[in-house]
Order: sequence, then C-alpha cells, then structure tokens
Amino acid sequence: MIEKIQISTDTGNSTVLLGEGLSNLIAYLPDTKIIVITDNVILKHYHTYFSEYNLIEIGTGEQVKTLDTIAYILEKLVEFEADRTSFIVGIGGGIVCDIVGFAASVFMRGLRFGFVSTSLLSQVDASVGGKNGVNFQGYKNMVGVFAQPEFVICDFEMLKTLDEKEFISGFAEIVKAAAIRNAKLFDFLETNYSKALAHDLEAIHYAISESVKIKAAVVEADEKEKGERKILNFGHTFAHSIEKIYGIRHGEAVSIGMMMAARLSQFKGLLKEEEVTRLEKLLVNIGLPVRLEIDKPKLLDAMKKDKKRDSEKINFILLDKIGNAIIYPMTIKEVEEVINDLC
Ligand SMILES: NC(=O)c1ccc[n+]([C@@H]2O[C@H](COP(=O)([O-])OP(=O)(O)OC[C@H]3O[C@@H](n4cnc5c(N)ncnc54)[C@H](O)[C@@H]3O)[C@@H](O)[C@H]2O)c1
Repeated sequence: MIEKIQISTDTGNSTVLLGEGLSNLIAYLPDTKIIVITDNVILKHYHTYFSEYNLIEIGTGEQVKTLDTIAYILEKLVEFEADRTSFIVGIGGGIVCDIVGFAASVFMRGLRFGFVSTSLLSQVDASVGGKNGVNFQGYKNMVGVFAQPEFVICDFEMLKTLDEKEFISGFAEIVKAAAIRNAKLFDFLETNYSKALAHDLEAIHYAISESVKIKAAVVEADEKEKGERKILNFGHTFAHSIEKIYGIRHGEAVSIGMMMAARLSQFKGLLKEEEVTRLEKLLVNIGLPVRLEIDKPKLLDAMKKDKKRDSEKINFILLDKIGNAIIYPMTIKEVEEVINDLC
C-alpha cells in the first residue's frame, strides 16, 4: 500500500510517496519537457524505466558533489533547451538528490523538480526536507538552497539492488530519528532490526515512515534551521568532520558521530550510561561502526570550520534520554577538554 506524507513549508509543498514504484513515475510527471538526472550506477540498473526522457548522467561519490557538477548539469540543460516550463527528475541516492535539487533551483531561477529516492539513507532523510546543496572547498554542503521537491517516490524494491554496506549506512539516519524524537521507534528497532535488515516489507515500511514523519514535522516547524531543525544534526557535527577527514560513508560517520554525541551527553550529566550502551548496542547489531581511531587535532580543526558554528560556539545536539534531543552550545575549547573521553 502506498503511504503519502505531505510536507508544507514556506518554500513549497512536497509529497513523499512511500512504497510507490519507479515504474509508476509517469503518473507524477506534468505534460512538459522532462529531464532525468541520475548517476551511472542507477543508470546501469534501471535505465529501461526512464529511457524515453532527456537524460543527464553524473558520477558517484562525494567528490562529484561540487559546483563543477552543477555547472555541467546547467550546460546540459541549456543543450536540451530546458525552459521555465521544464520538469527535472532526480533519480538516485542522497548525492543525486542534493545535486539535482540545487541545479533545478538555480537554473532560470528555479524549475519544478521531483525525486525518485533510491537509497535507504535518501528515503529516510536526504530527499526529504528541501535542503539541497554541494560541498565547497572540502566542506560538506557549504553551498545550497532550500527548495522542496514536488514529490519524492520511495520505491522499497529498489533498496534490494543497493550495496549491503550502503543499505546498512542508511540505518544510521533511522536510528538518529528515533534517538532524537521517537523512543517507540527506537524500541521497535531494538526488537526488529534483523527483519528490517532482511528487507521485511512491513518492518522497512514502518521504520522509513516513522523517520520521514519525524523529519516532516521538524521541517514544517522550522524549515530554515533557525532552531528546532538543528536537532536533526544529532551526531552530524562530528560526522561531517569525520567524513571530510576519513572519506567514509555518510551513515557510518553519523553512527560514530552519534556515539561521540551520546558520550558527550553522558559527560554533561544529561544521559544515563545505560542509554549510551543501548545506542551503542543497537548500532553494533545493525552493523554500523561506533568507533574510529581519530586524529583529534585534525577533527577539532575541521569542526572549527563547520558551517553549523554560531560565532564562538558550536551547537551540539545532545540527548537527555533516548527519544529526546536538546540543543547545547559549546565552545571548541570545552570540546577539546573532553575529546579524549569521546573518541
Ligand atoms: N539534504 C539532506 O537533508 C541530506 C540529509 C542526509 C544526507 N544527505 C547527503 O546524502 C548523501 C549520502 O546519500 P547516500 O547514502 O544515498 O549516498 P549516495 O547517493 O552516494 O548513494 C550511495 C551509492 O549507492 C548507489 N545507489 C543508490 N541507490 C541505489 C540502488 N537502488 N541500487 C543500487 N545502487 C544504488 C549510488 O549510485 C551510490 O553509488 C551525502 O552527501 C549526505 O551529505 C543530505
């Protein structure tokens, strides 16, 4: 059964379609020039589903999430004679969605666009919420826009062709959603993680649906991240720096970052040790990394430059229990003092 989740914000409305199929994409497209943008891996697996449309192919990996790729897409849009009536469809994981949302939003000051979200991480997080952007000078998501895709098709069948490590990586954002906002989802994951890992449809649908609902509610309350939306960054202040230094997958870095943030929460007397252990056990059971031999000076340096820094302080997202996050501003010096206990 297809579940529809609506997101209404100042920059537009978006419908997330859980359980819809790529094969039904046409039902959501306007009668106008359609341009599909995807990466070479998705193209290899699924090109027959969108071979009738104008196509722009990009590469994979964080190294393609740059302004150069945006310029390449804009050139191709000119070549296809795209105009303000054209419709752009991004088909791919978080990287394709982040790039396509940005390119569509700046071409001729903004074309309509939608996504077919193909990785677990993008279905639960990256394709939802209207943040689109690219990395700049090695810093994650430094340049971008807020713009909502008209639709996000989340085809659960497509998750079966996803590399196992990529699939597992997506669970990090589900655990994050549960940890910051939904203790019931956390309990569910503790009991049912193996079913979800085995692609049990009911378990996968429930986990994705609950995560998207959490993100939708937070984004509707604070689209531009003035306050509450910051809680979605639980684990991410550490993760973005870890990702930059070690080049590991986003979800893997988020998993390590969440453990560091949980230990920081415990250190600040907010979170009980049993809760930190519960988080660690769940992440380990799922197959996510929880520790890394970290070069601490490098990490602190990267964090200093993180875009989430508010003047002298960084807004850390800490937990006071599983299911509740709080925004906790700290100076880099304060973090430096405890960094050995976090790694
Ligand atoms: N905008 C946001 O709010 C937001 C939120 C979270 C993460 N992100 C971003 O998302 C990115 C990570 O996304 P990701 O984990 O999806 O990585 P990704 O887009 O790199 O996809 C991972 C790999 O899986 C392949 N793939 C995707 N779907 C597939 C499928 N169905 N079958 C076979 N292969 C498939 C891709 O081609 C790629 O090689 C990061 O850049 C992160 O910063 C953005």
